[in-house]
Amino acid sequence: MKICTIVGARPQFIKAAVVSRALANVPSCVEIIIHTGQHYDPNMSDIFFDEMEIPKPAYNLGVGGGTHGQNTGRMIEGIEAIFLKEQPDFVLVYGDTDSTLAGALAAVKLHIPVAHVEAGLRSFNRKMPEEINRVLTDHASDILFVPTKTAKKNLLDEGISGEHVQIVGDVMLDAARFYGRKAEEESNILKRHSLHKSGYILATIHRAENTNDGDRMRSIFKGFSACNDEIILPIHPRTQKMISNLGLAVPGNVRVIDPVGYLDMVALEKNAMLIATDSGGVQKEAYFHEVPCITLRDETEWVELVDAGANILVGADSEKISVALSSKHCGDDVFSGELYGDGDAAGKIVSYLSAGL
Ligand code: UD1
Ligand code: UDP
Repeated sequence: MKICTIVGARPQFIKAAVVSRALANVPSCVEIIIHTGQHYDPNMSDIFFDEMEIPKPAYNLGVGGGTHGQNTGRMIEGIEAIFLKEQPDFVLVYGDTDSTLAGALAAVKLHIPVAHVEAGLRSFNRKMPEEINRVLTDHASDILFVPTKTAKKNLLDEGISGEHVQIVGDVMLDAARFYGRKAEEESNILKRHSLHKSGYILATIHRAENTNDGDRMRSIFKGFSACNDEIILPIHPRTQKMISNLGLAVPGNVRVIDPVGYLDMVALEKNAMLIATDSGGVQKEAYFHEVPCITLRDETEWVELVDAGANILVGADSEKISVALSSKHCGDDVFSGELYGDGDAAGKIVSYLSAGL
């Protein structure tokens, strides 16, 4: 069985890491990793392959830094040529980025079956590029691995149901458990930055709806500045560029650091008193590591976190942000549920794929 895996952006390296590890144990399975190049800085790409021991991509298309149309178009062209050469039995795509959609479209047009990991997520906000990518990828996919019952229901509402929709749990839980142990042994980021357990808030911001809107960014920073605690912000290159372009002032209590590798990120998450983020993955990781989370968005795909009381939506409202940052909004009891499966999503995905073939 030959599988071509498409990755390109940071969260996809993390998701693919655990599935690739499981695929490597299947005799007669060959996985060919195609990196689109969507993320290309060493600390947005190479560091994950190195420290998570992901097999090196067989191909890197070097497509990144363009507009959505440029990136997606160039990726489809490059991926199609590789599929024609490699003739895979299956294509595996992850999440909701431009790389995901490009991989799915290139495959279906060549009649190669597509399996989508993290299918069925919806924000119901069609202005998000990710929402368009998810919907189109789901409708082009032959096998849909969904993390939750809500995701399965979202697909059903769009007419996608049947045995090819499989609830497997969330591969990010597998990653949090497997690499979480490694992070405890290997990360010294707290020491490097003179941080103490529960002595800081961790924040990430990169979502287009925030970074592309100066008013929202100013309002988020106003909310941050009203808080008495120090906020550590590993900064996404996109956010760094927008701060410079818009001439935004970063509040004095916000310490901006370069993007960090996964092991350091897990260590920062586990030891934070609270996490403030607009990232999809970081919202779930806050839950896995039992840290209260506030989400700097108006809606979330991960609605079960809000329902459980582990996460609250504050948008870019400075008042809501400052109030939420100053109060620990949930107790430890909210983290007891198994919202995202049992931590063996990768095993289930690989069993299903090998049985089908
Ligand atoms: C992308 C995904 C988003 C995901 C995020 C994860 C899409 C539409 N969006 O958003 O769903 O949450 O990745 O981080 O696919 N840049 C660099 N160096 C890099 C990577 C990016 O400088 O290594 C800068 C470039 O200016 C680039 C910009 O960031 O143009 C945006 O990058 P892009 O990959 O298009 O979108 P993200 O915001 O990273
Ligand atoms: N992450 C990381 N280093 C950072 C910021 C994030 O390793 O400096 C990890 C984070 O732990 C999570 C993933 O990147 O596993 C989330 O990616 P991102 O927020 O870029 O994208 P999203 O999940 O929103 O698509």
